[in-house]
Amino acid sequence: MNYLIAFRNFFLKLSFRAIRPLIFMMEPEQAHRTLKKAGVFLGNNKFLKSLTGLFFNYDHESLNIEVDGINYRNPIGLSAGFDKDGELTKIYPSLGFGLAELGSFTGEVCPGNPGKRLFRMKKSKSIVVWYGLNNEGSEKISQRLADEDFGDLRVGINAANSNLTPEFILQDSISDYLKTMKLFKDIGDYYDVNISCPNTQDGEPFVDKDNLDALLIAINKEIRPISDKPIYVKLAADMTLEEINIIVDACMEHGMDGVVCTNLAKPEFNSEHRPEEYPTNKGLLPKGKGAMSGLPLQRISTNVIRHVYRRTRGQLTIIGVGGIFTARDAYEKITSGASLCHMITAMIFDGPQAMNEINRGLVKLLKADGFDSISQAVGSKNPLPKIDSSQDLESKAA
Ligand SMILES: Cc1cc2nc3c(=O)[nH]c(=O)nc-3n(C[C@H](O)[C@H](O)[C@H](O)COP(=O)(O)O)c2cc1C
Repeated sequence: MNYLIAFRNFFLKLSFRAIRPLIFMMEPEQAHRTLKKAGVFLGNNKFLKSLTGLFFNYDHESLNIEVDGINYRNPIGLSAGFDKDGELTKIYPSLGFGLAELGSFTGEVCPGNPGKRLFRMKKSKSIVVWYGLNNEGSEKISQRLADEDFGDLRVGINAANSNLTPEFILQDSISDYLKTMKLFKDIGDYYDVNISCPNTQDGEPFVDKDNLDALLIAINKEIRPISDKPIYVKLAADMTLEEINIIVDACMEHGMDGVVCTNLAKPEFNSEHRPEEYPTNKGLLPKGKGAMSGLPLQRISTNVIRHVYRRTRGQLTIIGVGGIFTARDAYEKITSGASLCHMITAMIFDGPQAMNEINRGLVKLLKADGFDSISQAVGSKNPLPKIDSSQDLESKAA
């Protein structure tokens, strides 16, 4: 059976390589729209959906994992931003995903930023994103998804602040997040509070400790009583250690369940991409706009995961995201401390068999390390520092 699946995947990989130049001839945003349409079409047709499953799905019991009381059939998920209006949930399980994060959804209808908003950097294996949170708004989307049965797909609801004005008003922004979270209280399995979109007009105001405290207090007051879904917070890629610590400590202090590490990387201080490919340097995007997915993010996001896991002593759930192309990339994030993984860019560059290739590879890597399950591997290569007993005595004495 394993040989059959290996052969199937090899065939799919070659086929994708053959058609990729045609996909890449399309404008990236047009290609995104076309692929989404194809996904909706496949998901709405029972026969084609089963056929897709036959080609792309993969299951293995060692991939099952329970995280914050939720059972995932495998730890590989679609990251936020591909399915901004939550239209494709019917097809994800057949493509091998264990989870899909929908959105970002915002309280108001959001057209996103004007102009060209998506760019490929082929040599850097990256997508430059300047979308700016375009989505149909949480009212319309929640109504559409209200009666949807997601089956064995676990669904994350990514909530962000509407990107409509450069002016930041704390209470309005908090109300915007709460509106989305309330409308989705009975939809999906977890929330992801996106405080790290690099493409908004008002910047990233919730990196500020006081603003973040106010947001998390409001979430605890208004969302916890109406929903028992775990709540995660999505971190930016470009923060200093000090900034990461402030956010992570606030998440612990306010009882958040976890963090998603990380969002897109800005090019300014990033040496992991080829600058000549960046659209700003080709005159296609104004300076300071856009941020990168994929390979330029791979090492950075893994380092953030390692740091957060150690700082929180594994007490916060971590979802690892950024430049996962192979099973080894996903395994590195898992053994650094992530319980689940998200991805987008690998699917775009390597094709829709990437998910099952990664899951299949994870089974092998688990076995090679003598693990029976993903949960045994979480953080296994990132040993926690010993607690300094003198500090412990000092704190007791205090
Ligand atoms: C086209 C595109 C749109 C994105 N939009 C969002 C978004 O709306 N909200 C969000 O939290 N992250 C968004 N992201 C970031 C991804 O969720 C993810 O953090 C990032 O792409 C790194 O994963 P990858 O390297 O596997 O693509 C977007 C990424 C891409 C490529």
